[in-house]
Parts: sequence; structure tokens; C-alpha cells
Amino acid sequence: MKGLFLIILFCSLAVVTSCGGSAFNEGENFGNLLDTTGGLTLSQSEHEIGWGQADCLPCHNLENIHLVNRTGTAIDIVAIHNQALSGGIASCASCHGNNGAP
Ligand code: HEC
Ligand code: HEC
Repeated sequence: MKGLFLIILFCSLAVVTSCGGSAFNEGENFGNLLDTTGGLTLSQSEHEIGWGQADCLPCHNLENIHLVNRTGTAIDIVAIHNQALSGGIASCASCHGNNGAP
């Protein structure tokens, strides 16, 4: 039940922030992912709620992620945004690992 509550909370926060009156939508923000132990690759400890799930889209809106480059490296965040949109769910693992899903 606690997990379900957190998911609902997370999703409503995502809706609130994406509809907020701010002039620029920064999308989801978990800081610099390259600062975490596995880098872009997801691990259970940094992804407790979503771990083991193959389908990312119920929790992550592709329009609302990869909007800002927080890595401090010269990546093309617009290209990544578009790649995730066109490749869809099949593209995520190439950068984020398999998320513990079989
Ligand atoms: C059940 C909901 C849910 C699903 C499904 C889910 N996620 Fe997440 N994800 C979250 C939440 C919540 C966070 C915020 C960090 C946290 O509290 O775990 C997050 C954070 C992330 C982050 C940032 C991690 C970090 O280091 O801060 C990435 C990258 C990510 N998710 C990718 C994915 C990918 C790729 C998939 C599908 C393979 C996926 N997620 C499926 C809920 C989910
Ligand atoms: C080409 C590599 C690449 C692909 C493919 C990719 N991502 Fe990412 N993803 C990144 C990078 C790099 C970041 C860190 C962006 C930043 O600096 O905030 C990131 C960040 C994220 C975050 C954290 C929020 C954010 O915007 O920073 C989530 C959630 C996420 N990705 C989910 C996904 C999902 C779901 C897919 C598949 C549909 C996917 N990614 C495909 C490279 C990728």
C-alpha cells in the first residue's frame, strides 16, 4: 500500500509540475545521474519504486524527461529526448540498463 501511495504521489507531482505556470518546464529532476554509483545504469537502491519493471511509461512521461542536461558533460540532450520518443520503451535499456527486469 505504501508503494501505491508513493506512485500516486509521484505521478500527481509530475502532473502538477508539468502544468505549473513556470515559463520553462525542466521536467523530472533527479540531479546529476552521473554522480550516482552506477551512472546512468539504474540500480535497485536508486530506483526502489520502479525496480524490476520493464514498462517505464506508466511512471515516466517521455515528453517530461531528458529536457535539461544536468550531467556536466557535453551530451546532446535534445537528441536523447528525441531518441527516447522515437525508440520508445525498447530504447531505454541501451542507456539505463535493464532495470532488474527479466
Ligand atoms: C512504478 C513507477 C516507476 C516505473 C515503472 C519506472 N520508474 Fe523510473 N523512477 C520512478 C521514481 C519514483 C523515481 C524517482 C527516484 C526514486 O525515488 O526511486 C524514478 C527515477 C528514475 C530515474 C532517475 C534515477 C536516479 O538515479 O535518480 C531514471 C533514469 C529512471 N527512473 C528510469 C526508468 C526506466 C528506464 C524505467 C523502465 C525500464 C523506469 N524508470 C520505470 C518510478 C518508476
Ligand atoms: C541515448 C541514451 C538514453 C536513452 C536511450 C534514454 N535515456 Fe533516459 N537519460 C539519459 C541521460 C544522459 C539522462 C540524464 C539527463 C540529465 O542530465 O538530466 C537521462 C535521464 C533520465 C531520467 C531522469 C529524469 C531526467 O530527465 O533527467 C529518466 C526518468 C529517464 N532518463 C528515463 C528514460 C526512459 C524511460 C527511457 C526510454 C524511453 C530513456 N530514459 C532512454 C540517457 C538516455
